[in-house]
Amino acid sequence: MCGIVGYIGKDNAKDIIIDGLKKLEYRGYDSAGIAIVRDGKLEIKKHVGGIANLENLIGDDPMTSHIGIGHTRWATHGAPSDLNAHPHGSQDGKIAIIHNGIIENYHELKEELIREHNIKFKSETDSEVIAQLIGVIYQEKKDLLESVFAAVDRMRGAYAIVAIAEDEPDKIVAVRKDAPLIVGLGKGSNFVASDIPALLKYVKEIYLIENNETVLLTSEKVTIFDENREEINREVFHVTWDADAAEKEGYEHFMLKEIYEQPKGLSETLNRRLDENGKINLEGITLTKAEIEKFSKIYIVACGTAYHAGLVGKYIIEKLVRVPVEVDVASEFRYRDPLVDENTLFIAISQSGETLDTLAALREAKSKGARVLSVVNVVGSSVARESDDVFYTWAGPEIAVASTKAYTTQLMCMYMLALYMGLEKGTIDRDYYDQFIRDLQKMPEKLEEFLKKASQIEDEAKQLYNREQVFFIGRGLDSAVSYEGSLKLKEISYINSFAIAAGELKHGTIALMEPGTLVIALACQDFLYEKMVSNIQEIKARGAYVMAIAKDGNESIAKHSDKMIYIPECRDEITPLISVVPLQLFAYYVAKERGCNIDKPKNLAKSVTVE
Ligand code: G6P
Repeated sequence: MCGIVGYIGKDNAKDIIIDGLKKLEYRGYDSAGIAIVRDGKLEIKKHVGGIANLENLIGDDPMTSHIGIGHTRWATHGAPSDLNAHPHGSQDGKIAIIHNGIIENYHELKEELIREHNIKFKSETDSEVIAQLIGVIYQEKKDLLESVFAAVDRMRGAYAIVAIAEDEPDKIVAVRKDAPLIVGLGKGSNFVASDIPALLKYVKEIYLIENNETVLLTSEKVTIFDENREEINREVFHVTWDADAAEKEGYEHFMLKEIYEQPKGLSETLNRRLDENGKINLEGITLTKAEIEKFSKIYIVACGTAYHAGLVGKYIIEKLVRVPVEVDVASEFRYRDPLVDENTLFIAISQSGETLDTLAALREAKSKGARVLSVVNVVGSSVARESDDVFYTWAGPEIAVASTKAYTTQLMCMYMLALYMGLEKGTIDRDYYDQFIRDLQKMPEKLEEFLKKASQIEDEAKQLYNREQVFFIGRGLDSAVSYEGSLKLKEISYINSFAIAAGELKHGTIALMEPGTLVIALACQDFLYEKMVSNIQEIKARGAYVMAIAKDGNESIAKHSDKMIYIPECRDEITPLISVVPLQLFAYYVAKERGCNIDKPKNLAKSVTVE
């Protein structure tokens, strides 16, 4: 995910672009840049960090120009740095581009450009390949539109690209394939952007660009070409939303938007590492079979929601790889002299990659000789940089403080790591592996289906929102998910919630059960189902009000519960990918009923960089 903006018209491009980029920072914020044509010369300014850093770099320079493109980056290929920031320029300095997406065949194109055109690449990005390729073609064609057409014919992948040329400062060319792109229609000015919020201050009339379409913008005219390069007409879309709603794509809060982005996050995290034979391709991770066999112990260390993903990781890695796994919260791990040596694999999980406790635990483990692998969402973050290997989640930027899509993509990484290591080590066979992968592949669609039931959960929340305390119970993997459900509820609704393994209730916590006490019971593990039914009966006998979550088909539990939420049938091991979602939605709707500040709960921060 990245944000892109382009402008051509009578006003100063720089001011409009910087303003637009600020509205797109939710799409990525690790580096930013701008390119303009001033007095016949193409100029690029870019800087690592947010838009504020770019503004500092520009300083008082007005960058006077009527044409420009700008970018805010969410790193995929190459860590955040000045050089990897966009725009990228061609070697002769004549072309500048910005890009959102992935060029799958960038490696072969890059080799060809180096071999046949003596191009010296400055960055580690796939995007620079686009600039260099257009640059080489442009030397012959001397026409930006024709050069972009020819370059696109050579590229595979997903992209929205915007290009300008020093010698044609009266046009912008943009192209879209599987990444968002819109055009804003002004008077004597035209705009292009990845998203409507960037332009709302300036225009309300928009062209929504479709896949495989190319757009030519001048200050007076916008021409759209289809995939056969034929000119086409597009209906104007009149935007009626305000800027705030547009950033959230119509959702009331980022948290809800991010809950709904989970099917996409799961499918990206899985599919980007699967080859055509269903084999997990751990590109960028150098774990060998011998190393996997050597590990006598695995630690998973993290904080908050990421720690809860680790609880699921422990269960699944122990089951599939047959090696003991310990999960610990980072702030405890580092002060307890943990038993770590060179036969230890240390897995750090962190959405931000900047959590100080996690980073300190990682350093502690590294200093004792452990092999360090991290599961991280933010490319090039501190945890990623200090790890031996990084398994990136593909959740995209997570804005709401309460983590949702980062958690489910972290779970997906846990499954993939366990499957990979299990197959390498021989603790699972290929048939088991293949079936498991097929089951994982079905999850995005199942989750999409389940999300259609959100209104049922909203109704339950409307009835239950004023409880003063809530208990979450489950067994096995359901118990791990209970902890996350409880955390979600307490962090955004401020209700005192408590999670406990269902079998442990009778050893103390059951003393708190009174008539009407709300208990959310997860019963999604087939082999523990009967045991859960017994636990539910125990608390019902004390008058508790039970909302149970079970798989479709397990209706018998309804007899013992006051409310039921059914999730789609799937193998026991992967139910957390779905069973957490009703808990996220419940927390969300309860917090909404209580009038809480959902995206920014009190006392909490998205990234905690203090001890
Ligand atoms: C903070 C956030 C949590 C998050 C935790 C760990 O406490 O509020 O939502 O789970 O940090 O963050 P990380 O970025 O390391 O996953």
